[in-house]
Amino acid sequence: MCGIIAYTGARPAGPILLDGLRHLEYRGYDSSGIALALEGPELYVERVTGKIAGLVRRVEGRLPEATAGVGHTRWATHGEPSERNAHPLTDPERRVAIVHNGIVENHEELRASLGDGACFSSDTDTEVLAHLVARELAQGADALEAVRLALGRTSGAFSLVAMPRDEPGRLIAARVGHAGGVVVGHGEGEHLLASDLGALLPHTRRVAFLEPGELADVRPEGVRYVDAGGAELTKAVEEQSVGAVALVKGRHRHFLAKELHEQPDAVLDVLRGRYLSDPPRVELAGIPFDEEGARALRRVVLVGMGTSLLACSVGRHYIERFARLPAEVDNASEFRYRRPVLDPQTLVISVSQSGETADTLAAMEEARAAGCPQITVCNTPGAQATRVADGTVYLRAGPEISVASTKCLTTSIAALHAIALHLGRLTGQLEPELEAQQVRAALHLPAAVGEALELEAQVAGIAERYARYQNFLFLGRGLSYPMAMEGALKLKELSYIHAEGYPAGEMKHGPIALVDESVPTVAIALRDEVFEKMRSNIEQLRARRGPVIAIVSAGDRSLDGHVEECIELPAVDPLLSPVVSVVPMQLLAYHIALERGADVDQPRNLAKTVTVE
Ligand code: G6P
Repeated sequence: MCGIIAYTGARPAGPILLDGLRHLEYRGYDSSGIALALEGPELYVERVTGKIAGLVRRVEGRLPEATAGVGHTRWATHGEPSERNAHPLTDPERRVAIVHNGIVENHEELRASLGDGACFSSDTDTEVLAHLVARELAQGADALEAVRLALGRTSGAFSLVAMPRDEPGRLIAARVGHAGGVVVGHGEGEHLLASDLGALLPHTRRVAFLEPGELADVRPEGVRYVDAGGAELTKAVEEQSVGAVALVKGRHRHFLAKELHEQPDAVLDVLRGRYLSDPPRVELAGIPFDEEGARALRRVVLVGMGTSLLACSVGRHYIERFARLPAEVDNASEFRYRRPVLDPQTLVISVSQSGETADTLAAMEEARAAGCPQITVCNTPGAQATRVADGTVYLRAGPEISVASTKCLTTSIAALHAIALHLGRLTGQLEPELEAQQVRAALHLPAAVGEALELEAQVAGIAERYARYQNFLFLGRGLSYPMAMEGALKLKELSYIHAEGYPAGEMKHGPIALVDESVPTVAIALRDEVFEKMRSNIEQLRARRGPVIAIVSAGDRSLDGHVEECIELPAVDPLLSPVVSVVPMQLLAYHIALERGADVDQPRNLAKTVTVE
């Protein structure tokens, strides 16, 4: 959740950067810093731990005159929150200052490749970028070229702004992969860069959004855009309208589309500061017991409603796998009236985006009355659920406006993954190698979710072909079963098509009676231990002339020719596959709804937060 702001123009840069950082502080506030480009040439860099107010106090009355600079507010991923790890980071000779948001996945390998002579002053992945860019600059590369060449050696999903010392007034911005956006603000004789639109709006409404793989060469008098190969790009500068709703939607037609596309960032933010890479481990605040408390637990019950309930169904697998505790999932509205057997050895985990859903709150009250320890997974600071639970794990996904949930599902699954790993460590049931492997795999999720979004054009084509069908089946097994349910739920909510989600093994016990050429099935058939079983289910559908849209693992061509449509996911760890496999189903529901002219953000009869029974 790091925030980036940068300015180049004729006005004093320092105050503009500090204002921008105040605006971005919600994205993270464990440390912050600014760098200014001084004539000299020289870089002025100031960094502090803690909130922006501390940075303001540090620089007050001492800010040098400068008309270009970069600012950053941080939420630690690599390296603890400290002054030395705060951004902007520079190379040892201070040729360049860099602010960065996201993860450089191969930073360890790059660090090693820089050789023993390279002297690092922080534990961050960001500093590697500063070294790489500085080396290119030292060899005479132009600043834009230096950043482009350096990025060619990296993997991951992130964005950055680089400020070269020797050219005061020049800034280079880049976006790699889908996580971490950069918006370029076009003003009169000045330009700004920010990680989100809101920080630019006090200065200009004319903006351009960098797409993955794009770079911007920014000077007071103009911006040049190039792609990853260095080829010149023409980018449209859009005028943002003044209406509050339009502003929040940014360049998307619907909140749903915006939120769906925010998922790489949202997943990054839910992992940030919780999944640490060196050594790989999970550190989670909000767990209301220690080892002794965890070892006293006998079972876990997960409760929620709607999409949050489906996140619980994935979470159950994680609790069983990592913490080896018996885990059950219950629909909160059923749980509360069933007189469930509860005691203080039962941990209740509730999931609620709003933290205000009546049935979920009532289930939590039931658990509280029985003395159960409780954790809630919630997106809304201060919501009722956070006051009932003993501990809260926040999703940090930002407001979800669209009634149909997207980013709060994927972030809830990631949060439950973190809780289960943490619990597993406390109960002593989690093998350290598995924790390390899962942490590494999770840190790749933002990039994988971004790649899954690239399937949009293919999925839109499928939506066009299937928008007029009246009934759909969604099938999956294991971890893919709850996602099949979610695929069906999204389609129902958004396009009013009748859709059923089933565990594929159950298909022969009823649903198959519906199947003929008029009932398509979305089958999640990933290369996991149940792949062969899914494959047989697909054959059974085909034998009854049912059209099949298969969602398959990266590189799996074995169903080509056997099914009508094949959607190939990016590579992802099997245990984390729900976070990625759901994305094409969200896109499918969205595009079918568009084809049918439905009200995407506010489907009929539904509400975002259901505060009645
Ligand atoms: C409503 C919304 C769903 C949401 C469910 C649970 O039905 O339309 O999108 O999943 O409530 O909401 P919660 O805020 O508890 O996650």
